[in-house]
Amino acid sequence: MGAKWFKIAVVYFVIGIILGIVMGIIHDFALTPVHAHINLLGWVSMALFGAIYHFYPQAGETGLAKTHFWLHNIGVPLMQGGLAYTVLTENESLTIVIIIASLAVVLGGILFAVNLFRNV
Ligand code: HEM
Ligand code: HEM
Repeated sequence: MGAKWFKIAVVYFVIGIILGIVMGIIHDFALTPVHAHINLLGWVSMALFGAIYHFYPQAGETGLAKTHFWLHNIGVPLMQGGLAYTVLTENESLTIVIIIASLAVVLGGILFAVNLFRNV
């Protein structure tokens, strides 16, 4: 479970820093919240999940860990993809997707916390 999180985290890191440098080069900061959350919910949070599951492998084998994995990994790209679309097109039709995806990430985070208290 640890290695899976690390590999996904580093993909978000590369996307996040490329977006950051592009924002800097073209002087357009509209996607700052997307850049921030790709780096923080993608790279930083996922690397921390990976480290915790690596040091406490018993916590990584639970149903809670698997549900957290899928909620976070479906939620974050839909949330950030929806947010990027909304910012770039100024079309708010995907707001409901952003809301549901955010709630999935929040629920995943709560399950992660429960798992941590039970199995770490
Ligand atoms: C080469 C790598 C990076 C570049 C070129 C870059 C570039 C930028 C730029 C241009 C902004 C917008 C600043 C503004 O609106 O005034 C920004 C904001 C931000 N970046 Fe990065 N960034 C990089 C890496 C990272 C990483 C690794 C993280 C997190 C781990 C991060 C977190 C943030 C956050 C949280 C903000 C929003 C700050 C705020 O609320 O004012 N960035 N970054
Ligand atoms: C489901 C989880 C999350 C949701 C729904 C969420 C939501 C938001 C919202 C609505 C904003 C304001 C955006 C704006 O004013 O443009 C924001 C900003 C921010 N959030 Fe989150 N957030 C989440 C998770 C996190 C996490 C885990 C971190 C750090 C580890 C974080 C760090 C930040 C930072 C640094 C900003 C300021 C970024 C900027 O200047 O654009 N967020 N977040």
